[in-house]
Amino acid sequence: MDSYAATVARMPALEQRIAEHPEEFRILTGDRPTGRLHLGHYFGTIRERVRLQDAGIDTFVLIADYQVITDREAIGDVAGHVASALLDYLAAGLDPERSTIFAHSAVPALNQLMLPFLSLVTEAELHRNPTVKSELAASGRALSGLLLTYPVHQAADICFCKGNLVPVGKDQLPHIELTRTIARRFNERYGRVFPEPAALLTETAELPGLDGRKMSKSYGNAIALSMTADETAAAIRRTPTDSERRISYDPAARPGVSALLTTAAVCNGSSPELLAEEIGDRGSAALKALTTDAVNSFLAPHRERRAELADDPSYVAEVLRRGNERANVVAEETLTEVREAMGTVYAAL
Ligand code: TRP
Repeated sequence: MDSYAATVARMPALEQRIAEHPEEFRILTGDRPTGRLHLGHYFGTIRERVRLQDAGIDTFVLIADYQVITDREAIGDVAGHVASALLDYLAAGLDPERSTIFAHSAVPALNQLMLPFLSLVTEAELHRNPTVKSELAASGRALSGLLLTYPVHQAADICFCKGNLVPVGKDQLPHIELTRTIARRFNERYGRVFPEPAALLTETAELPGLDGRKMSKSYGNAIALSMTADETAAAIRRTPTDSERRISYDPAARPGVSALLTTAAVCNGSSPELLAEEIGDRGSAALKALTTDAVNSFLAPHRERRAELADDPSYVAEVLRRGNERANVVAEETLTEVREAMGTVYAAL
């Protein structure tokens, strides 16, 4: 069984354990602040984090700013993207009393774990990572040291707080597998410090972008959570469809039509096939109108809360400041344990 099938097979037992004993888990997950968060993020992981937080699990949400420069040279408007992500997290229901929201670059002890962790993996193992390979191909650049080794950094993200549950999409499974390997090797070499984390796959299949390709800011096919209703309508209007009047769900032959059906379906809790039937032979215009309605109604409450929060930037900044503070306390505790395990405590000399 490959690691995806094995992870899927473990899900029911894991969900049951979570429902019965939320206190046994600590979640760490995060996003790269490379642009505005979009519907794919929302249905992929953000909604899941809120569900788990509400189930009583101690939740850490990382804004992975050092991961922005893995596959590109320019860090871009990182401060703007961080502020935007914070608004979306809070509007979606992450509660700073129960969830720790923080940024990589503000937590030195987390980054320091990268050093011993790098010693636990080989170059060949790093080169085998399929997610790194596809990111390298998509970047059109030479392989940087950071792109090759960021999965080790991601292991530090998870291990610094002893996260044992990582809600992620399928593309992140190689990184969770590597984290398990690093945790196991560290424990074998120096004594037990880290749990081996489990991946928690979300139920929603990956939401395609409007053109049927992977939803991504760089393809211009994403609906950002922060768009206005009019911007959303315009983005949907631009989606390439076809002139066939009868609407059907067929992702291979009709990527645009099918992506619109999927988008509308996740927003109003229906299925793409049912919606296709409902629209019948009323064509792409009716499909676009229905999708615009579904997305805008679904996002209306989110956008309203987001706008209220945007009116109070000092509160939002304070959420991040306090999150960084707590992450630093936790990271220092873990680093102390690591130093003790490795014998690099020289106070008694
Ligand atoms: N690589 C993740 C992404 O691109 C973001 C991320 C960084 C992350 N560190 C993490 C996710 C640790 C889970 C756990 O979406």
